[in-house]
Amino acid sequence: MPISRAKNHQEYLEYYRQSLENPEAFWAEEGKRLDWITSYSRAMDASFDPEDYHLNWFVGGCLNVSANCLDRHLSDKPALIWEGDNPDESMVFTFKELHEQVCKFANVLKKQGIQKGDRVILYLPMIPEAAIAMLACTRIGAVHSAVFGGFSPESLASRIADCQAKVIVTANVSLRGGKTIPLKDNVDQALMSPEAQCIQHVIVVQRTLDAVTWAKRNLWYHDLMAEASSDCVAEAMDSEDPLFILYTSGSTGKPKGVLHTTAGYLLHVNMTFDHIFAPNKDSVFWCTADIGWVTGHSYVVYGALSHGCTTLMFEGIPNYPASDRFWQVIDKHHVTHFYTAPTAIRSLIRAGDEYLQTSKRSSLQVLGSVGEPIDPASWQWYSDKVGLGRCPVVDTWWQTENGGIMITPLAGVTSLKPGSATFPFYGIEPALMDADAKEIAGEGSGNLVIKRPWPGQARTLYQNHDRFIETYFSTYPGTYFTGDGCHRDKDGYYWITGRVDDVINVSGHRIGTAEIEAVLDEHPAIVESAVVGFPHEIKGQGIYAYVVLDPNCKDPVTDKQLNDWVRKRVGAIASLDKVQVAAHLPKTRSGKVMRRILRKIAAGEADNLGDLSTLLDPSVVDDLIQGKV
Ligand code: WTA
Repeated sequence: MPISRAKNHQEYLEYYRQSLENPEAFWAEEGKRLDWITSYSRAMDASFDPEDYHLNWFVGGCLNVSANCLDRHLSDKPALIWEGDNPDESMVFTFKELHEQVCKFANVLKKQGIQKGDRVILYLPMIPEAAIAMLACTRIGAVHSAVFGGFSPESLASRIADCQAKVIVTANVSLRGGKTIPLKDNVDQALMSPEAQCIQHVIVVQRTLDAVTWAKRNLWYHDLMAEASSDCVAEAMDSEDPLFILYTSGSTGKPKGVLHTTAGYLLHVNMTFDHIFAPNKDSVFWCTADIGWVTGHSYVVYGALSHGCTTLMFEGIPNYPASDRFWQVIDKHHVTHFYTAPTAIRSLIRAGDEYLQTSKRSSLQVLGSVGEPIDPASWQWYSDKVGLGRCPVVDTWWQTENGGIMITPLAGVTSLKPGSATFPFYGIEPALMDADAKEIAGEGSGNLVIKRPWPGQARTLYQNHDRFIETYFSTYPGTYFTGDGCHRDKDGYYWITGRVDDVINVSGHRIGTAEIEAVLDEHPAIVESAVVGFPHEIKGQGIYAYVVLDPNCKDPVTDKQLNDWVRKRVGAIASLDKVQVAAHLPKTRSGKVMRRILRKIAAGEADNLGDLSTLLDPSVVDDLIQGKV
């Protein structure tokens, strides 16, 4: 039998011990949470050993994700509550209704030639069709790859090309905060790129009556759905068959296609959802993440629905029409579990406590935080003001590559410390490494690694397994390297301190500084650039770009032009918060940019720059501090 929820910390410790001491037996029992078409012969066959690296979970098992999310919960209970950008718009789909829509769209995809293993890009707003399309892909074994609507046509095109998708599902427009974003136009631009010619059909949801230009390979979603049958047998997928690809930023190069597989992923999100959030049969779970990010995949769609829990999907933003929107939605739909990012919390703190007066929030039971470190003051505000001091706050640490939550409190079970993600989830064995790659015992700070495989982890980077191994398994061989720094206190609590690589976290969104540098370096006026993160009151981190201009370039370039240049090529999430024109970048004798110095200057900590002896020309640093060009 799968373990029941721990009633207290002692019980958590006991289950945790079991999960590490006898993992195969533990996972064999936990696997029973899912409905299997064919059961597995072995739950676990996995090792991080560099000589014998392999990841196989639930070997020989067959199952279907949409059947686990829908068919086994068929009833008139609400599965998906949708709240539109406009407060007058909302909709409810029961499990039966959602099932019907998913089966129909699965048949639509089939009719457009999509087969098991084919890739489908989803470039959609937060509308029910997004969840329907995801689940429909899983029903027929197609691999979805969602691209956040804030990404530019160029970013979209490179993702289409990388995964060689056949179909893209989009909407004519997306609505956010009363503004209209031309999604379909972005798709049209992306499809002009020679590398995106693999797309055969563009399926367009009509979100509004706004006109769109129409092309040959375009099809209206509603026309196709009107003709589709609602009978669709769920495809039997092998445990290790690909489920989805999600592109995420790394410290070098282009975004990488993180690939998740079927059984391990679904089990991990199902289990974490249950144990961490402790929902009951009447819970209404609201995760505010966009489905273009992993949190939207795992906790708007798969975690909640595979558990038979009602999930709420919100199209809008926290401050539209006013900064009480979240709280209004909580009251309107009796939300019991609310899961958001610290950046949203910080912006609502700034908006003022008066926005809390227009709602009661009496339905709330559990609050969650994800995506970036939460400072203790924001944590306290969230707990005291939003949750009225009666809801546990679960600060959940995890990453796109992890599939689901890794280090976290269990609601109502774990004694909390504001700002700490507390303890590892079942089966997860974290460790801290010092500068000499030695494991730190007890209290200390170091780089966070995970010492053993877990079911929900990514299996590879799409068509680039070497990069996968290089990125995650070569820094500390035999372990998975997270890229995060972490402190463990004397009571064994984990405190995530943020990225230790060249990835920055802006408003909870991961951005590789190398990606922005590559785009800046393409600008005709720029000789070279370096991008770093700096502390930002609302966004957590802001983007700081140092640029060296070409003295021969006649046209002066403004900060705004550079910002537009980057936004157009990467997307609005990569807006530059600060641009500093520099005469030179600080480099070592071997020509490497000393980013540590640039980070300090950007953070306003220029009086504490540390050892500068390896610099080729230390006077560069003074010029940077004084802003000399
Ligand atoms: C950061 C989001 C501190 C971390 C699920 C990680 C966090 C990156 C937390 C992954 C947290 C996520 N406390 N930092 N509770 N949760 N992070 O891939 O730096 O978009 O490496 O996945 O976000 O971001 P990603």
